[in-house]
Amino acid sequence: MHGWMFSSSLYDLLIIRGLFATVKMVNYEVIVYTSNLAGAPTMNKVFIKLVGTEGESKKQWLISLKGASDIIRGAAPGFSVCCPTSIGKLVLIELEKHRLPLLPEDSWFPAKVQVKSPEGDTYTFPIYRWITDSKVQRFREGTALTVLEDNHHLGRYSRQQELKLREEDYRWNVYAEGLPHSMKAESNLSLPCEVRFSFTKSTEFFYTASSGLTKLKLMGLTTCKKAWTNIDDISRVFCSKKTEISDYVKEHWTEDAFFGYQFLNGVNPMLIRRCEALPSNFPVPDEMVFLSGQCSLAHEIKNGNIFLCDYKQLNGLPTNTINGKKQYLTAPLVLLHKTPDDKMKPIAIQLKQTPADDNPVFLPTDSEYDWLMAKIFVRSADFNEHQMNVHLLRTHLLAEVFAVALLRNMPMVHPLYKLLVPHTRYTLQINHLARALLISENGVFTQFSASGGEGMLTLLKRSLSSVTYTSLCIPDDIAERGLENVPNFYYRDDGLKVWDIIHRFVQGIFGHYYKDDCAVEQDSELQKWISDIFEHGFLSKECTGIPQRLTTVAELVKFATMVIFTCSAQHSAVNTGQFDYGGWMPNCPISLQRPPPTKKGTASKATMLQTLPDVNTTVQGLSTLWLLSKQSSDFVAFGQYPEDHFCEEIPTKLIKDFQGDLEVLSAIIKNRNKGLEVPYTYMDPAEVENSVAI
Ligand code: FE2
Repeated sequence: MHGWMFSSSLYDLLIIRGLFATVKMVNYEVIVYTSNLAGAPTMNKVFIKLVGTEGESKKQWLISLKGASDIIRGAAPGFSVCCPTSIGKLVLIELEKHRLPLLPEDSWFPAKVQVKSPEGDTYTFPIYRWITDSKVQRFREGTALTVLEDNHHLGRYSRQQELKLREEDYRWNVYAEGLPHSMKAESNLSLPCEVRFSFTKSTEFFYTASSGLTKLKLMGLTTCKKAWTNIDDISRVFCSKKTEISDYVKEHWTEDAFFGYQFLNGVNPMLIRRCEALPSNFPVPDEMVFLSGQCSLAHEIKNGNIFLCDYKQLNGLPTNTINGKKQYLTAPLVLLHKTPDDKMKPIAIQLKQTPADDNPVFLPTDSEYDWLMAKIFVRSADFNEHQMNVHLLRTHLLAEVFAVALLRNMPMVHPLYKLLVPHTRYTLQINHLARALLISENGVFTQFSASGGEGMLTLLKRSLSSVTYTSLCIPDDIAERGLENVPNFYYRDDGLKVWDIIHRFVQGIFGHYYKDDCAVEQDSELQKWISDIFEHGFLSKECTGIPQRLTTVAELVKFATMVIFTCSAQHSAVNTGQFDYGGWMPNCPISLQRPPPTKKGTASKATMLQTLPDVNTTVQGLSTLWLLSKQSSDFVAFGQYPEDHFCEEIPTKLIKDFQGDLEVLSAIIKNRNKGLEVPYTYMDPAEVENSVAI
């Protein structure tokens, strides 16, 4: 025992002083890259041990040539690790960080470590994690390996250890029965450090959240429980926060063509579908629609020119009480006609699901305010459907399921981890914040949206039962809704192109790592991942069509494409335009405070103003939409991977091709937008964020 200690100290001494003249040693050149993040460098002592197929180095203090422990921000200091003989092919490294006497323990965020062996091979070890304590941390060499190919016993051991720790750090939680499960965390600070917001992101988020409201508070608007008395006053409150599109919306919101356009290219392009037969609860006779008698409704349905938006999910939802007043939310049916000049125009609106004398079918030929009020009720229904179903559930909550399932089941060395982890950035924290600030007891939507409270949770549960695998895959979804030939449908045009580009990339990656379907079938980590998603995300409902197992490479490619698409382009399509389309409140009222009209000829400008939400409700809604539409300065654009998780030649080349394809698409979209009255930018890859981060 004593002798070992002596020889160990002597060995360290030899290394430190470089007295190797008489001992033949082999040399490993080590470069340590520390991230550029604030707080990333360490003043602590860092030790490294190299582990190879033929042996391992001794644990060595990475003392630099200058004699200081300068693992500084963004820097890549070089070190030397000596061994008596070659340790073979490198499998992993062990890192340890210890405080120096009199100095506090700090946190360190290494990016990666590169090691050049005496044989001349360069090995890269991706890290991209905070090291906060003095425990030994193991990091695998960057070559992606599925569990079947991970043959070295030390590799397999560290793989199991990593997953064991991750299962402790990332736990499922049931936020409410009937909703996808979420990440268990008491507060933002109890989230593991590597999934938390950066300092920049945190500061900006809370600044944007508070600055919008502070000004409005000073103006007394957040406490003003009065109705608007003049429609122009609505635009004055938020005059400093407008966009070119929100200005356009203010000018055009009452126009039928623009009302129809929003079902295609607004923030909720997910509801419209081709109408093959009128629903039995929507009695629209031919003569009510085409007064000229030139074409019949049946004929236009047959020609594929009639479309339907049915908000049946909202039927009978309990509504909120705001400022002591009961609120109203309808479950409308909207019939639209694709006109010969390629416009999508509403031709009939029924505000409630059951036909009755007090539930008239409103028509464009009704009085100005009868028709406008019917459209306002539709837009308010759309706000609630969009926020809860299309935005929160179908992007945020599912992205969280994909993230937690990945972090619990995939070791860093797995190709699926490397592929998907950049698309999980900030998702766990933004969702924690959404639960705390938007849908908690005191959340903005709970307090100020028509469905706030019990209705909101019921709507989320109903929405989950309507989510299908088909509806999450844009090519299948567009076909299922019969929207292949609708003109001027940019969500579809851009979305299909983005999907194709992702699909090609993912196919390249998995084609490289899985030699056949059998390799997919036998990948136990992959099967655990998909079955976790099925169980915790879709509550084991077979009718969703979500796979419970993956049996072919093609199935894996499609599912991973859907995950990336949902977390990036789809979220952008339903998130980024929230202020553009909702910044002019009458176009997207968060709630309405008068019942829907039960007969024609009663609506006026005055009843419209009394129906729109009160001043405080309006400003709370607008500040939230502003916050949720704001791009952060540490935004990572789609397909950019600042962390090099893949190190090998083939995946690196595939990433370059993927980025090239996205760049070309971005240029095509920008060029197309030049000719549009309202540009559609939400799926331009340069504008899309890599993950659900806001
Ligand atoms: Fe969002």
